[in-house]
Amino acid sequence: MSEKISRMEFLKSMGFKGASLLAIYCGASAISSCINEAGDPADGPAGIDFTLDLNDPANANLLSAGGYLIVNKIVIARVSADAFAAVTQVCSHENKSKVVFRDDEFYCTEHGARYTLDGKGLNSEGKKGIKSFNTEFSGTSLHVFA
Ligand code: FES
Repeated sequence: MSEKISRMEFLKSMGFKGASLLAIYCGASAISSCINEAGDPADGPAGIDFTLDLNDPANANLLSAGGYLIVNKIVIARVSADAFAAVTQVCSHENKSKVVFRDDEFYCTEHGARYTLDGKGLNSEGKKGIKSFNTEFSGTSLHVFA
């Protein structure tokens, strides 16, 4: 009888944890395909730390205010010429990955939960709030991190 063990469990058994575990698990070039296996899904993936190049056509939605992009289950919005906001895509109401950016706030298309730019709830569906992430904009680079 064989026992199956996930790659994440194997790395944990080797003593890796936190950000270093996620870095190894995700690999340097595959962060967009990495999914957190533990924790509350409404908290979003753990150990988030990546940089987007706004010159990359894939990130063109972030070139103008009001635009947004979803990367690794993080909704990243351009709020103004030099301000950005980022929250988990997973709504805290019923854990649906349906949060978008709309009218200067984050909004879940499933039942209408509304959140501020830093993830605070604005109505009864959104009352639990959602995890927000830090953003740092420099030149054409946008750093998103927990
Ligand atoms: S799951 Fe988002 S509002 Fe219900």
